[in-house]
Amino acid sequence: MGGVLQLPKPMPKPVTNVMDQTITSVSREHRIFRPSAEFQRQANLGSLSAYKKLYEESVNSPEKFWRREAESHLVWRKRFTDVLKWTPPHAKWFTGGRLNIAENCLDRHLGTARENKAAIIFEGEPGDVRTITYRQLLFHVSRLAHVFENLGLNAGDRVAIYLPMVPEAIVAMLACARIGAVHTVVFGGFSPEALKARINDCKARLVITADGGWRRGKIVELKANVDKALEGAPSVQTVLVLRRCRNEVSMRDGRDIWWHEAWEGGPNIHKAKAFDSEHPLFILYTSGSTGKPKGVLHTSAGFLLGAKMTAQHVFDLKENDRYFCSADIGWITGHSYVVYGLLSNGATVFIYEGAPNHPEPDRFWRMIDRHGLTILYTAPTAIRAFMRWGDNYVLRHRLDSLRLLGSVGEPINPEAWMWYHTMIGKKRCPIVDTWWQTETGAIMITPLPGATPLKPGSATLPFFGVVPKVVDSLGHEVPRGTGGKLVITRPWPSMLRTLWGEDDRYKRGYWGEFPGHEDYYFTGDGARQDKDGYFWIVGRIDDVLNISGHRLGTAEVESALVSHPAVAEAAAVGKPDDLKGQSLVVFVTLKAGIPPGDALKEELRAHVAGEIGAMARPDQIRFAAGLPKTRSGKIMRRILKEIATGGEVRGDTTTLEDFSVVASLQAEE
Ligand code: WTA
Repeated sequence: MGGVLQLPKPMPKPVTNVMDQTITSVSREHRIFRPSAEFQRQANLGSLSAYKKLYEESVNSPEKFWRREAESHLVWRKRFTDVLKWTPPHAKWFTGGRLNIAENCLDRHLGTARENKAAIIFEGEPGDVRTITYRQLLFHVSRLAHVFENLGLNAGDRVAIYLPMVPEAIVAMLACARIGAVHTVVFGGFSPEALKARINDCKARLVITADGGWRRGKIVELKANVDKALEGAPSVQTVLVLRRCRNEVSMRDGRDIWWHEAWEGGPNIHKAKAFDSEHPLFILYTSGSTGKPKGVLHTSAGFLLGAKMTAQHVFDLKENDRYFCSADIGWITGHSYVVYGLLSNGATVFIYEGAPNHPEPDRFWRMIDRHGLTILYTAPTAIRAFMRWGDNYVLRHRLDSLRLLGSVGEPINPEAWMWYHTMIGKKRCPIVDTWWQTETGAIMITPLPGATPLKPGSATLPFFGVVPKVVDSLGHEVPRGTGGKLVITRPWPSMLRTLWGEDDRYKRGYWGEFPGHEDYYFTGDGARQDKDGYFWIVGRIDDVLNISGHRLGTAEVESALVSHPAVAEAAAVGKPDDLKGQSLVVFVTLKAGIPPGDALKEELRAHVAGEIGAMARPDQIRFAAGLPKTRSGKIMRRILKEIATGGEVRGDTTTLEDFSVVASLQAEE
């Protein structure tokens, strides 16, 4: 294969801190890419001074700014009275207002030129294509809303959605929003155990799934997974099953119904009720630093405003764009930038069901040419995989419809940025490197493509209304050029409101990091600001890993491991990885009398995948006689990380309980 990528060089050793290295690797980056005059001319916001002016207004007169934006972007049934009620850390935005989120994504476009415009273009992995107009999408959503109501579903009830990336997944989310039900989308790659935990945590009444979904030519048996999950999930009364792959499934009488049968003959028109601005819209589970996933709660008006405004500005949306985001709706990126932010703008969204390398590694490029896609939003881990697969797969295709590229999910290394820029964007397309989180609901730090000069590896500048700071452990801002913790110092409309059923965890986890600054939201990320005020995100500095752009809690992996009968203790750490950003290394001590061996390693890897999902399968398992601990019994992850990275153990080890443990860990493997 010609033109094989230049992978970024392995990290220098010895390594003391992953954060420092990334800083050095990106701090050598001085290239600047200004928006072309051609792009600027057509951009929604075409100059840095225009950005600065609006940004300043947004932070100096937030009340006026947000009132105007909320009035102009959203369709209100009843106008709001107050812009913000803020009693840290609880925010209420646009109180007194009432609206319907599905109406804001669908009905508003009817009777306009968008009525017969494609809302969704779908390509299944086998190559099947469907186009659904706004009018048709409203029809689908209305019918499903009736089905929900016939099932006795009420506003506020929770609905778990466990579907492949097919149009019905979007229909299901919007039908929930339409009747005020709260969806929790669970990525189809999650195991039955993980699905069960999420269903039980929010006590979902309804589960929506499919017989299966296509992945690399094989069927992922979603319904069978649901059957397993529901063995221990008593809250679920009904399972609605979409027919996708026609694989055989078992349907339980009185519980399981087929989607196509349920909506047969129902009315096509659904009169939507209006809900409060702060009515819960969805719960999305994400990894935290303890074992149990966190149910991030987003509400209605503020979330939609954030998603809609950012989509419009960051993707410079135009009426004839065909936008492709490769994220699954099981992640926040799919919520904000496949569904809500795009449909509320009346955009055409392209979605793809399967793997990026099926049947060959040029699937994305083939689809971009086939459908004339204009914007691509994907993750650095995917970009690095494309690099590795080789330029020839790209060079077979024209890619001349593309005009804008985006990146999300993890820091993008300058090498990958340059490849994306030259090989995919043909040096013509700006790249928006967007920093945000499940919790922030919408993009927070990002270039605006017609305005912001780009520096490869930097997410650049804050979006309107966002005031980030890099601070030390006391919450004091550090000088430019110095690394520190990234905080957001003001509330923003699309912020999470709490963690479902765990408000204390919400308060402690996000707002309790800096005593005296209980109104600082702690992101869990490390960052640095350069002399121009640009932000360089380093990555997680808490016990959360970012493996191929997927968030994974070390404690989650550890609790999966210790649930195996052979395991006494486990510690999971991330190791820098050229392709995945981080790879997952686990140290395991076995129960007395259990012999270590390769077969057991394989078994443990499969066990973790079974408990959480394939994305959590450890890359490396290392057996150890004991784990290094502080005197108070805390596992010293820093040391394990150094050992995993192959570096010498440096720094203060005086708190180690057993020095011999370190020596034997290094000797192993
Ligand atoms: C990381 C995904 C650097 C970061 C939208 C954050 C990024 C976590 C970027 C959130 C970026 C996301 N540059 N790092 N452009 N975007 N991250 O909740 O560590 O799945 O805290 O949301 O991904 O991951 P989440």
